[in-house]
Amino acid sequence: MPRPEAVARAPGRVNLIGEHTDHQDGFVLPMAIGLATTVRARPRTDDVVRLESDAVHGAAEFRPGDEPCRVAPEWARGPAAVVALLRDAGLPAAGLDLGVATDLPLGAGLSSSAALHVAVALATIGAARASGAAVPPALGERATLAALCRDAEALGTGVRCGIMDPFVSLHGRRGAAILVDCRTFVVTEVALPAGRIAFVVADSGVRHAHTSGEYGKRRDECETAARVLGVKTLRDATPDLVHTHRAALGPVLLRRARHVVRENGRVGRAAASLASGDDEAFGRLLDRSHASLRDDFEVSCPELDALVEIAREVPGVLGSRMTGGGFGGSTVTAVRPGSAADLVAAFRDEGVRRLGRGVPSRIVAAAPGAEAMIGA
Ligand code: GLA
Repeated sequence: MPRPEAVARAPGRVNLIGEHTDHQDGFVLPMAIGLATTVRARPRTDDVVRLESDAVHGAAEFRPGDEPCRVAPEWARGPAAVVALLRDAGLPAAGLDLGVATDLPLGAGLSSSAALHVAVALATIGAARASGAAVPPALGERATLAALCRDAEALGTGVRCGIMDPFVSLHGRRGAAILVDCRTFVVTEVALPAGRIAFVVADSGVRHAHTSGEYGKRRDECETAARVLGVKTLRDATPDLVHTHRAALGPVLLRRARHVVRENGRVGRAAASLASGDDEAFGRLLDRSHASLRDDFEVSCPELDALVEIAREVPGVLGSRMTGGGFGGSTVTAVRPGSAADLVAAFRDEGVRRLGRGVPSRIVAAAPGAEAMIGA
């Protein structure tokens, strides 16, 4: 009898606005995109999980009892953590062959890591179902799976990311961004009429290394700022509260808190602008978000700033900002569809002039969230 196989496909994402707000229980406005990671899961007769990836041209093997953060090679630590947490959540342990294929560029700020984790989770659950195992009902809930994938990132790689990336990979909608309240997980769909705005993602070529500690440092600073302000997380702070406590915060924490609090406000206004058709206002909010990430949260870099400047010089561009955790990765630019080709050409040509290389960019459209295709 052929062994049952499960296949899952999980998309990457572009965050339109709401950066470094998810780890503060705040608001984000991302969209899932067409680029995705696919994982095929096939049960084995032993208890080994063997992972093979076309993206890194390599394989990794681990066993149920292995500590995820010690699994080698390093790229397999997140998937190992996903498998470990699924078992902790009551999924019967089984050996699996997991084959990974992806068209998401790695480390480009499009959330390739969350897409991998979501696809591994869905394929592993799908394989268990296909072989007749009882799957705990909670693992059928997408918000629960998103939280599990977020926790896997911390367990496997030590980076305490927020929930945005796995959440949007699981909840993406075709033709819409999703406004997510990262405290309550309430999702509001925000339509992105293709005829009005195109989104272009440009890759700075600078590869972020959140593991280098800057992401965690920002998060720690936010937590300290919340304590100084007497709130649970910065989600609960207002611009006035931050202003009142500016002396106690000191200059660095003041800037960090100011970014998060204002960015949360911008997310709501951005969603409202899109809904009311005020695309210019939406674009201005993207521009302000970038300035705040550059000056107050200090997670941009010269290459990202240069890409944003290149974009803003192109007629038809509404707004531009870095997207994702920062320190490299990509920018997202909102542009009138008729000017998108000019923008792509500007990244290529101006990139050579300002960064010494043509900058690859592409138009991305809002795509549906992850799907489990066979056996799930
Ligand atoms: C990374 C993290 C997310 C989020 C963004 C910044 O992508 O994985 O959880 O914090 O940075 O908005």
